[in-house]
Amino acid sequence: MLPADLDAVLRIQAACYPAVMQEPATVVAARMAVACGTCLVGSHEGVVRGYLFAYPSRLGLVTELNAPFTPARQPDTLYLHDLAIEPCALGCGLARALVDDALRRARALGLAHAALVSVQDSAGFWQALGWRAAATHDAGLDTYPPGALYMVRTPA
Ligand SMILES: CC(C)(COP(=O)(O)OP(=O)(O)OC[C@H]1O[C@@H](n2cnc3c(N)ncnc32)[C@H](O)[C@@H]1OP(=O)(O)O)[C@@H](O)C(=O)NCCC(=O)NCCS
Repeated sequence: MLPADLDAVLRIQAACYPAVMQEPATVVAARMAVACGTCLVGSHEGVVRGYLFAYPSRLGLVTELNAPFTPARQPDTLYLHDLAIEPCALGCGLARALVDDALRRARALGLAHAALVSVQDSAGFWQALGWRAAATHDAGLDTYPPGALYMVRTPA
């Protein structure tokens, strides 16, 4: 993901989430800057149609909605904050490709875990990709709409 992708990312976010979950452009741009090695875009037929925001964190920690990324000094986890595919490109395998790429990067960074918060009834999708529900006591989970679920897997 490059700064030039910001407009596409905001367009995809607008298409994929309700108003209450839209994160401001300033926050999104700051995240790209602080975690450029683990934030990815995916193209379909030459157009950016999907994105994945992730950064090195610690197991059990949740990024609050609208909060900046604070990469951990001694990370053990790749935290996937947001994965979204524009509706016109759903079902093309773009989401799986982005997650696979992120997990490869987690392995290259020597991270033992990957984690995320599943929203919008996406738990079935994540389970299909090898993730499982896990406990967290991080109050950041409460910043998400009801039904949000903390999930983990190993990057291997
Ligand atoms: C969740 C989302 C990223 C999935 O995108 P997608 O385009 O359907 O994903 P892919 O085409 O890469 O599918 C990957 C696999 O997941 C499976 N899958 C997709 N949705 C599924 C679901 N709800 N339940 C079970 N499996 C699912 C697909 O069948 C596919 O399996 P296969 O590779 O064995 O054929 C997409 O629906 C989305 O952007 N939703 C809006 C944003 C959102 O809520 N993101 C989740 C944030 S936690």
